Amino acid sequence: MNKLEVQNISKRFQDKLVLDNISFTVEEGEIFGLIGPNGAGKSTLINTIIGLLTANSGTISIDGKTIADNSVEFKKKIGLVPQDLALVEDLTAHDNLEYFGAYYGLFGKKLKERMEEAIEMSGLKGREKEKVKKFSGGLKRRLNVAVAMMHHPEIIIMDEPTVGVDAQSRNYIFDYIRKINKEENTTVIYTSHYMEEVEQLCSRLFIIDNGKKVSYGTKSEVKSLVNDTVTITVKAKDFPASFVGTVKMISGVSDVEVKNHEEILLFADASFQLNELINICQENQVSLIGIHIDEPTLEEVFLSLTGKRLRD
Ligand SMILES: Nc1ncnc2c1ncn2[C@@H]1O[C@H](COP(=O)(O)OP(=O)(O)OP(=O)(O)O)[C@@H](O)[C@H]1O
Ligand SMILES: [Mg+2]
Repeated sequence: MNKLEVQNISKRFQDKLVLDNISFTVEEGEIFGLIGPNGAGKSTLINTIIGLLTANSGTISIDGKTIADNSVEFKKKIGLVPQDLALVEDLTAHDNLEYFGAYYGLFGKKLKERMEEAIEMSGLKGREKEKVKKFSGGLKRRLNVAVAMMHHPEIIIMDEPTVGVDAQSRNYIFDYIRKINKEENTTVIYTSHYMEEVEQLCSRLFIIDNGKKVSYGTKSEVKSLVNDTVTITVKAKDFPASFVGTVKMISGVSDVEVKNHEEILLFADASFQLNELINICQENQVSLIGIHIDEPTLEEVFLSLTGKRLRD
């Protein structure tokens, strides 16, 4: 078991409160998102979790054992992909992997295997003998992730691993994360200010702004905080004009709009039930061609909860 608990963590830098009573739990084997805009306190929180910073109050524990009492054990369990690249620019990719692998206690056959895996997974095959300083930002980011994964930590914390990378490198990193999560049941804490990344990867998330909790829970729980959340597009054939009035009566529906004679848009809150819509179509002998439900994006949720966008 590897249940990570962050309990009532507060952190000050001089008189500035940077983390204000932060609590959440990350279950074993989940991909957990930590989101917030620049300066929200994400890196400070991560550095507190891994023990690089000491909190002014609160505790971090794994399966009930606090980090402070078990630091060596925790260091083996937790890996970090730091926000700032942690690579030796004057060494080749191969030598970086060897160097960091040895640092994590790998040697011999195991070290070789893990290096091959890292080269494969980061898409660096054929370039492993080149110096890191010659790599593009995206390649460096991929190697940065691979290096942190060398010792297969049970919990990996990634601090904005995709900053400044193109779609291809981002896909490599995402595939890597999904693979280790699926095959090794690695717990992943994924930090980003790209909401769409967290939307794709994570099942549960914590949103932080100005050191304070904005929201915490599953994606649906977080989204349900925003009222009138769903837009349902109903495509149907030859529905009578009266049908529009009928669907307006469905519970949760606040407004209805007809688009080009064969589409009806329903604006509804979370109490909307798809079954009810389908039943009403059947009762009125309206044949459905398609239904599309748009939930708000996490970006929209963040805007609605804080009044500002995640990125400038
Ligand atoms: N060593 C430090 N001394 C004083 N203030 C600090 C220090 N480190 C961070 N801060 C401040 O703490 C706040 C949170 O910073 P932090 O780096 O944790 O944010 P972040 O969410 O990781 O932001 P980003 O998305 O830019 O990486 C910021 O206001 C920052 O200026
Ligand atoms: Mg940061």
